[in-house]
Amino acid sequence: MKTVEPLRRRACEGLAGHVVEIGFGSGLNVPFYPAAVTRVAAVEPAEVGWKLAQKRLRAASVPVERSGLDGQSLPVPDDSYDSALSTWTLCTIPDVATALREVRRVLKPGGTLHFLEHGLAPDEGVRRWQRRLEPVQKRVFGGCHLTRPVVDLLSTAGFTITEVDIFYEDGAPKFLSADSLGLAVSPGTDEGGPG
Ligand SMILES: C[S@@+](CC[C@H](N)C(=O)[O-])C[C@H]1O[C@@H](n2cnc3c(N)ncnc32)[C@H](O)[C@@H]1O
Repeated sequence: MKTVEPLRRRACEGLAGHVVEIGFGSGLNVPFYPAAVTRVAAVEPAEVGWKLAQKRLRAASVPVERSGLDGQSLPVPDDSYDSALSTWTLCTIPDVATALREVRRVLKPGGTLHFLEHGLAPDEGVRRWQRRLEPVQKRVFGGCHLTRPVVDLLSTAGFTITEVDIFYEDGAPKFLSADSLGLAVSPGTDEGGPG
């Protein structure tokens, strides 16, 4: 876990204001929220993750409230948040296109989604393995997909990618660790992309 801490830190850099974190898990990003973050809305379906997060939340310098159970349907009005965060979550959400549309809806126009996600590898040789292993991966790891094209999904949802770094994580199998780390800006609900 230590080896991914620098990646979490990079993903959280520049977050500010009221932030929604999709797939909050056990709160492993909490220590990396910058001081400019004022409040965090955690969206997490798994009770076990939320329970494991409690110790981290007690030590957190910003208030974090659980404000949703499903990234595909967020119980808040349009334009509710200044920024959004998603780390290694888009692989697992069943209808990822719907979830990204929801993130876009709840972000204020010009708000930024900070993403750090594994997905479809840049190399065809690795992709072949990803396609072979995906059915097992999904069964064993709670619906985790290996071949989701992260940047394409974000663009199709109407986000503008302003920064992206695509790389394999050190010390991890390539089929599982083709990461995209970057920033995706929401144009707001009325402009561009699919509603
Ligand atoms: C691989 S874990 C990553 C957790 C955390 N983001 C991290 O970086 O440690 C994927 C997370 O997505 C959550 N998840 C699954 N389906 C979801 C959904 N429909 N909406 C939001 N989160 C979901 C899982 O419960 C889990 O916490």
